[in-house]
Amino acid sequence: MQGIACSVQRTVWPCQGPGAILSHLDCRLEAIVKFALTASLIFALCFTWLAAAPEEKSPKPQYDSKGNLLRPADYRDWMFLSAGYGMNYSPSPGSHEMFTNVFVQRWAYQEFLNSGKWPDETAFVIDERDAQSKGSINKTGHFQTDLTGLAVEVKDSRRNPDKWAYYGFDADGQTAEAMPKGNGCYACHDAHAAVEHTFVQFYPTLKPVAKKFGVYNEAREQVSDAK
Ligand code: HEC
Repeated sequence: MQGIACSVQRTVWPCQGPGAILSHLDCRLEAIVKFALTASLIFALCFTWLAAAPEEKSPKPQYDSKGNLLRPADYRDWMFLSAGYGMNYSPSPGSHEMFTNVFVQRWAYQEFLNSGKWPDETAFVIDERDAQSKGSINKTGHFQTDLTGLAVEVKDSRRNPDKWAYYGFDADGQTAEAMPKGNGCYACHDAHAAVEHTFVQFYPTLKPVAKKFGVYNEAREQVSDAK
């Protein structure tokens, strides 16, 4: 604002000089018009600058100097896709049932809603939690307790030759190395996920979106065993 005030002062000054032809009123009008023009020019410049500013696509996956993925710090603030309880992909049941909660960055979720595609640098986190039944006033059913581990999946065609990379973090691990080529994570996601490498068949808010864009592989809904 100081800049505008100065320019008004400067525009007023010549009118007040000894050789001024304009009347006092004309002079004030001229100053007001110049002020309005300058202000609208500044406004237009600010608006153009804001419109041209690149969209904020954050957070993105972060890596250390060895190329290992850093634990995504704030994933619980990301978009929640779904929870599973005791989901198991092999016919023999696991030792104890756990909860899983799936999250994806909000900016990537938004791009999926607009295009039906996961953009580069999309990251998914699945957080695995113990289940408990007896506690407080609970009589039946199960609720979630301690974190036991994080599984992370990143789509990045520049960094990963196979586009999709997989990482496992233990409950408080801070970095994780990508699973080696030919890993089981990649193979199962490639063979059974309904959209690209993601299990949209289990994410109720995304399923209709994927169908709308024609990217949903219906065959992946068939009941089958994981191979
Ligand atoms: C035998 C099949 C299978 C294997 C092996 C597997 N997953 Fe998954 N994964 C699934 C299924 C099914 C889901 C969706 C259901 C759910 O929420 O648990 C899923 C969901 C995920 C998600 C949430 C995003 C998405 O793709 O839908 C991540 C992240 C993930 N898995 C990471 C991993 C990692 C890392 C490994 C290896 C350490 C792995 N998975 C191994 C079947 C598998």
